[in-house]
Amino acid sequence: MEKETPMQSPELAYTPQVAAATAKLYDRVAHVIPQVEWPVHAPYVLAINELKRQRNAVILAHNYMTPEIFHCVADFVGDSLQLAREAAKTDAKVIVQAGVHFMAETSKILSPDKTVLIPDMKAGCSLAASITGADVRLLKQKYPGLPIVTYVNTSAEVKAESDVCCTSSNARAVVEDIAREWGTDTVIMIPDEYLAQNIARQTRIRIITWKGHCEVHERFSAADIRAYREGNPGVVVLAHPECPPEVIAEADFAGSTAAMIGYVGDKRPKKVVMVTECSMSDNVAADYPDVEFVRPCNLCPHMKRITLPKILQSLETMSAEVTVDPFIAARARAAVERMLAVGQAQPKRAAA
Ligand code: 13P
Ligand code: SF4
Repeated sequence: MEKETPMQSPELAYTPQVAAATAKLYDRVAHVIPQVEWPVHAPYVLAINELKRQRNAVILAHNYMTPEIFHCVADFVGDSLQLAREAAKTDAKVIVQAGVHFMAETSKILSPDKTVLIPDMKAGCSLAASITGADVRLLKQKYPGLPIVTYVNTSAEVKAESDVCCTSSNARAVVEDIAREWGTDTVIMIPDEYLAQNIARQTRIRIITWKGHCEVHERFSAADIRAYREGNPGVVVLAHPECPPEVIAEADFAGSTAAMIGYVGDKRPKKVVMVTECSMSDNVAADYPDVEFVRPCNLCPHMKRITLPKILQSLETMSAEVTVDPFIAARARAAVERMLAVGQAQPKRAAA
């Protein structure tokens, strides 16, 4: 068998050639990345964009990635649902998941023949860590005959024990759809307690939940929202439904990360605050320089593990590869595909 020549790390200096080759990409982020910082990013951006073509790889980037990833190397950007849809249909041989581990697992579940890479295996999630497959089996014993609706922010093992998955953008539709199919007025929705409570306020279906929380969104309070309004008269408040219900009650709009972006694009508020992870405002501000963003936010330490140098290393070494036991994957796939059959959000093509 022919031996593959190992890929060499390209020279990562900011030369005039690198500056010229990345100038158009810099224009896209100039509003949010100071010029003095670009020489740090540009050589990585160029090297990643060259190498991903050689590898026949796509980079699927969540809306919480930093702007140099989101705007300059991603092939597709979106919320959890949009990225899952793209993972299911991409023709690329390799998927690099610029996001957290449960997202990479979801991609592998939907595309078992593709190589799925995550630039940092430690990029976890407090919601995914809050529940195990054994916990779900116990819940099923406690509440026999009720369908289990599982947020995608969970391990493959937990998805495998579930009847259907959901994301923040389709949770209500999924809950109502499965309740209709099972002929029940009660469903179990795990593991995000606040998402479940927020959905319960929009539907007649009774929801039994779990005590998992997103460590980013649980830190926002109703008092925070009132303070943003006091300090910024007329500000429009957009909040993610992983926030506690009292925060959602104070917001003008609640929705998934993609829904929040859609709100800014459609309504063009003069001044907005996005009650969510910090990179969201940067990424949206780059596209809408006419909108003023008030920027109190919380960082997700897991999402922030993904950086340009780690993406490049991942493509160079073709690691770390995400695998899912085929037996677990087959059961988890049924739950994810059941969800994909419910909503119709389309992925957005990024420009890199
Ligand atoms: P969405 O992008 O699906 O709204 O999810 C937010 C999130 O916290 C993902 O980790
Ligand atoms: Fe998990 Fe929250 Fe981070 Fe999303 S933002 S990955 S839900 S901890």
